[in-house]
Amino acid sequence: MELQQQNQTTQQSSSKIEIPENSCLSGRGLTKIFGVGKQTTLAVDHVDFDFNRGEIISIVGESGSGKTTLSKMLLGLISVTDGTVYYNGKPRDISTAAKKKEYWKDIQPIFQDPFSSYNMFYKIDAVLDDCLRMRGAGRLPEDQKTAMKTEACSFVNLKYAELTNKYPFELSGGQMQRLMIARIFLLKPRILMADEPTSMIDACSRATILDMLLKLRDEINMTVIFITHDIGLAYYISDKVYIMEHGRFVESGTADECILHPQQDYTKRLISDVPKIYEKWDLDA
Ligand SMILES: Nc1ncnc2c1ncn2[C@@H]1O[C@H](COP(=O)(O)OP(=O)(O)OP(=O)(O)O)[C@@H](O)[C@H]1O
Ligand SMILES: [Mg+2]
Repeated sequence: MELQQQNQTTQQSSSKIEIPENSCLSGRGLTKIFGVGKQTTLAVDHVDFDFNRGEIISIVGESGSGKTTLSKMLLGLISVTDGTVYYNGKPRDISTAAKKKEYWKDIQPIFQDPFSSYNMFYKIDAVLDDCLRMRGAGRLPEDQKTAMKTEACSFVNLKYAELTNKYPFELSGGQMQRLMIARIFLLKPRILMADEPTSMIDACSRATILDMLLKLRDEINMTVIFITHDIGLAYYISDKVYIMEHGRFVESGTADECILHPQQDYTKRLISDVPKIYEKWDLDA
């Protein structure tokens, strides 16, 4: 595995791949094949992209188009079958546990399914303490740590004092997703990978939480990679949009280009499923 990664690095550097200066995360020929022999699935098929610092990027596509698989490769949670991930312009190296830990300080997820995201035997207080440790704040005085955890919870309208002794399974799905966002508030990663992060949150709180994520982007110039089925939402929040079909990016550009003036039939079809896209987010109407 390590050797394979080294080989890839050597190949890539010799072929002079240009990565734009402002890119924090890029992919060249990134591919994921699950399974072996005849039972294989080509989940992500040679995708190229440059995600810039401080941008909100949406990846939109039908169920099974490869969005979560791509996000897991970018997070370093599953191996890459082919191609290279570039982090801050250089081939990403997460070949050792220590390097992976460093990488995970910078890139953090909010998952589609919050129930699978927590160690269920960890109390919520321990989940939040872990974040403080990752940020090097583990040895601060208790009252200071409590203040930080309280602030993070109130950022997502949760009450720290009521949560501190609970386990994640004692929360609702929506509360768990909020807790994931509170973690992000504490960790302040450079890149946030948000896979359907508000799927379990009611529409009213969803708008508030999305606004909070946008605020966090403004405060710390965080890059947000947002994975969603909801093309109206993608239009509302994104600087750039990537449209994914059968593991490939079939169209990409600014939200206006991709969603208001789509070129590809697939994108047009996705948009036609949301006939009231303009009205839906026209808050002044
Ligand atoms: N661990 C796995 N083993 C085998 N096949 C997998 C695995 N994970 C995903 N796949 C397959 O890869 C393809 C892409 O799946 P993926 O979860 O990335 O889609 P998605 O775009 O996130 O879909 P959704 O919108 O429903 O979340 C699917 O055909 C899926 O069945
Ligand atoms: Mg998915």
